[in-house]
Amino acid sequence: MSLADGGGPAWVRASAPAKINLHLGVGPVRYDGFHPLATVYQAVGLLDEVTVAPAADWTVTVAGDERLALSDVPEDGTNIAVRAARLLAEHAGLDEPVSVRIDKGIPVAGGMAGGSADAAATLVACDALWQLGTPREELMLLAAELGSDVPFALVGGTAVGTGRGEVVVPAMVRGDYWWVVTGAAQGLSTPQVYGEFDVIAEGLGVGEPEIPDELMEALRAHDLEKLALSLHNDLEPAAIRLRPELSDVLATGIDETALGALVSGSGPSCLFLCSGREHAHQVAQSLRLAKAGDPVTVARGPVPGARVERFG
Ligand code: C5P
Repeated sequence: MSLADGGGPAWVRASAPAKINLHLGVGPVRYDGFHPLATVYQAVGLLDEVTVAPAADWTVTVAGDERLALSDVPEDGTNIAVRAARLLAEHAGLDEPVSVRIDKGIPVAGGMAGGSADAAATLVACDALWQLGTPREELMLLAAELGSDVPFALVGGTAVGTGRGEVVVPAMVRGDYWWVVTGAAQGLSTPQVYGEFDVIAEGLGVGEPEIPDELMEALRAHDLEKLALSLHNDLEPAAIRLRPELSDVLATGIDETALGALVSGSGPSCLFLCSGREHAHQVAQSLRLAKAGDPVTVARGPVPGARVERFG
């Protein structure tokens, strides 16, 4: 099928948010190499933008702040955004190559699901470009095929994730949450961090992961003190084994009055819970002065999932 005379938009731009895990419970490795998760996701206001337009061939270009380790993003068919576009085309029975331009605002290989955000943004952008109106459930299935975190990048907000992270159920949450996010010059490989988790877990008798009630209560009540005590990431010891300096970054944030601190997902980004906007900017400035992580950014959550921003 061809859309050459279809009268659709010439291009579509979509955005998708970074995710953080307020709780990341990891179980013993499964038969398929993935780990069962019980996680609480929150989408925060660090966004990637993806622009798609019809082209002679499938191409991808990446732009953004050099401190985000852009050179680690492949600019070929292995890029998850191109894979997302091709998967949707195949699903719809189309043969319509697109050029994909990614403007990165999310740290690359930072434990914040930047690649998953690009995939989710590409799915909604191509769906609009090709005027498909793909049902939500079908987009969610395609998203899960692309990666464990991609369905959440479509949904956004705050949500409980199970399975390998791809089973996403929105959660009841009150109010806004203000975070400081620190980046690192070099990303961490997610499979490597899970591998390190396996080494640490061996012989410890790791059980099936669960969502702690206190965390969900803290989110329903917007109780920041309780939330700070409930933040937890089972991958944190593995990320710190691979990057020992992360424990200093976390300790510096707490010294500089953050309410709570943890490694984001598989790292090396770190998260600091603050009491509000002003406090977050104050903590961010202190972390910059202490040279604890670079770049240091303030982000608010929850924010919506992937959505079309503009088209022309
Ligand atoms: O699903 P995704 O492609 O994002 O996963 C990347 C890698 O992270 C997997 O190949 C696997 O090594 C690891 N992973 C895991 N358990 C999960 C999610 C990811 O072991 N639940």
